[in-house]
Amino acid sequence: MVSHDETGDTGYRVHVCFGANCTPRGSRTVLTSLIAAVHEAGLSGRVEILATSCRDRCEYGPSVNVYPGPVFYNEVSDEAVADIVAEHLLGGRPATNWLFSSVLARCQPTRNRAADRAKTAQRGRRR
Ligand code: FES
Repeated sequence: MVSHDETGDTGYRVHVCFGANCTPRGSRTVLTSLIAAVHEAGLSGRVEILATSCRDRCEYGPSVNVYPGPVFYNEVSDEAVADIVAEHLLGGRPATNWLFSSVLARCQPTRNRAADRAKTAQRGRRR
Protein backbone atom coordinates (compact mmCIF):
# COMPACT_ATOMS: atom_id res chain seq x y z
CA MET A 1 0.00 0.00 0.00
CA VAL A 2 1.23 3.46 -0.88
CA SER A 3 1.41 6.11 1.82
CA HIS A 4 -0.68 9.19 1.05
CA ASP A 5 0.54 11.78 3.49
CA GLU A 6 3.19 12.52 6.07
CA THR A 7 1.17 10.84 8.81
CA GLY A 8 1.32 7.55 6.94
CA ASP A 9 -2.44 7.50 6.34
CA THR A 10 -3.10 4.95 3.62
CA GLY A 11 -6.87 5.10 3.70
CA TYR A 12 -9.14 5.64 0.74
CA ARG A 13 -12.59 7.14 0.39
CA VAL A 14 -14.73 5.81 -2.45
CA HIS A 15 -17.79 7.66 -3.72
CA VAL A 16 -20.33 5.65 -5.69
CA CYS A 17 -22.74 7.86 -7.61
CA PHE A 18 -26.39 7.29 -6.83
CA GLY A 19 -27.56 10.11 -9.07
CA ALA A 20 -30.56 9.82 -11.36
CA ASN A 21 -28.50 8.55 -14.30
CA CYS A 22 -26.06 6.19 -12.61
CA THR A 23 -28.54 4.44 -10.32
CA PRO A 24 -30.52 2.80 -13.15
CA ARG A 25 -27.21 1.77 -14.72
CA GLY A 26 -26.20 -0.33 -11.73
CA SER A 27 -24.99 1.80 -8.80
CA ARG A 28 -26.65 -0.52 -6.28
CA THR A 29 -24.83 -3.54 -7.70
CA VAL A 30 -21.56 -1.61 -7.76
CA LEU A 31 -21.98 -0.58 -4.12
CA THR A 32 -22.78 -4.14 -3.02
CA SER A 33 -19.86 -5.59 -5.02
CA LEU A 34 -17.49 -2.93 -3.76
CA ILE A 35 -18.39 -3.49 -0.10
CA ALA A 36 -17.92 -7.26 -0.53
CA ALA A 37 -14.63 -6.92 -2.44
CA VAL A 38 -13.20 -4.44 0.08
CA HIS A 39 -14.20 -6.76 2.93
CA GLU A 40 -12.69 -9.79 1.16
CA ALA A 41 -9.46 -7.88 0.59
CA GLY A 42 -9.25 -7.10 4.32
CA LEU A 43 -9.54 -3.37 3.66
CA SER A 44 -12.75 -2.60 5.53
CA GLY A 45 -10.96 -0.51 8.15
CA ARG A 46 -9.02 1.49 5.57
CA VAL A 47 -11.57 2.16 2.86
CA GLU A 48 -14.64 4.30 3.44
CA ILE A 49 -17.41 3.76 0.88
CA LEU A 50 -20.15 6.33 0.42
CA ALA A 51 -23.21 6.57 -1.82
CA THR A 52 -23.19 10.08 -3.24
CA SER A 53 -25.04 12.48 -5.49
CA CYS A 54 -24.20 13.12 -9.16
CA ARG A 55 -20.48 13.15 -10.05
CA ASP A 56 -21.04 15.10 -13.30
CA ARG A 57 -20.20 12.26 -15.68
CA CYS A 58 -23.78 11.12 -16.19
CA GLU A 59 -23.43 9.65 -19.67
CA TYR A 60 -20.82 7.18 -18.50
CA GLY A 61 -22.29 5.77 -15.31
CA PRO A 62 -22.05 4.17 -12.94
CA SER A 63 -19.46 6.71 -11.83
CA VAL A 64 -17.04 6.13 -8.98
CA ASN A 65 -14.52 8.55 -7.47
CA VAL A 66 -11.59 7.40 -5.34
CA TYR A 67 -9.87 9.79 -2.92
CA PRO A 68 -7.12 10.86 -2.48
CA GLY A 69 -7.26 12.12 -5.99
CA PRO A 70 -9.92 12.20 -7.01
CA VAL A 71 -9.44 9.41 -9.48
CA PHE A 72 -12.47 9.10 -11.76
CA TYR A 73 -13.80 5.69 -12.80
CA ASN A 74 -16.72 5.18 -15.15
CA GLU A 75 -18.92 2.44 -16.59
CA VAL A 76 -18.03 0.57 -13.44
CA SER A 77 -19.02 -3.10 -13.51
CA ASP A 78 -18.27 -6.07 -11.25
CA GLU A 79 -15.09 -6.62 -13.28
CA ALA A 80 -14.14 -2.99 -12.75
CA VAL A 81 -14.78 -3.26 -9.02
CA ALA A 82 -12.43 -6.27 -8.82
CA ASP A 83 -9.72 -4.34 -10.69
CA ILE A 84 -10.20 -1.13 -8.68
CA VAL A 85 -9.88 -3.02 -5.40
CA ALA A 86 -6.88 -5.11 -6.50
CA GLU A 87 -4.96 -2.45 -8.42
CA HIS A 88 -5.91 0.79 -6.69
CA LEU A 89 -7.13 0.13 -3.15
CA LEU A 90 -4.68 -2.73 -2.53
CA GLY A 91 -1.92 -1.96 -5.02
CA GLY A 92 -1.86 1.82 -4.75
CA ARG A 93 -2.09 2.52 -8.51
CA PRO A 94 -5.21 3.51 -10.44
CA ALA A 95 -6.92 0.73 -12.41
CA THR A 96 -6.17 2.23 -15.82
CA ASN A 97 -8.73 0.21 -17.81
CA TRP A 98 -11.59 1.90 -15.98
CA LEU A 99 -10.39 5.48 -15.76
CA PHE A 100 -12.78 8.08 -17.13
CA SER A 101 -10.28 8.91 -19.91
CA SER A 102 -10.14 5.24 -20.93
CA VAL A 103 -13.92 5.06 -20.98
CA LEU A 104 -14.05 8.10 -23.24
CA ALA A 105 -11.56 6.46 -25.60
CA ARG A 106 -13.65 3.26 -25.68
CA CYS A 107 -16.83 5.22 -26.35
CA GLN A 108 -15.51 6.87 -29.49
CA PRO A 109 -15.67 3.72 -31.68
CA THR A 110 -19.17 3.01 -30.34
CA ARG A 111 -20.33 6.39 -31.54
CA ASN A 112 -18.72 5.74 -34.94
CA ARG A 113 -20.43 2.34 -35.19
CA ALA A 114 -23.78 4.01 -34.56
CA ALA A 115 -23.05 6.52 -37.31
CA ASP A 116 -22.00 3.67 -39.60
CA ARG A 117 -25.26 1.82 -38.90
CA ALA A 118 -27.24 4.95 -39.73
CA LYS A 119 -25.35 5.38 -43.01
CA THR A 120 -25.90 1.72 -43.88
CA ALA A 121 -29.62 2.05 -43.17
CA GLN A 122 -29.78 5.14 -45.40
CA ARG A 123 -28.02 3.32 -48.21
CA GLY A 124 -30.47 0.42 -47.85
CA ARG A 125 -33.45 2.77 -48.21
CA ARG A 126 -32.05 4.23 -51.45
CA ARG A 127 -31.93 0.81 -53.16
S1 FES B 1 -25.88 10.65 -12.17
FE1 FES B 1 -23.94 9.70 -11.83
S2 FES B 1 -22.53 11.09 -12.70
FE2 FES B 1 -24.44 12.10 -12.85
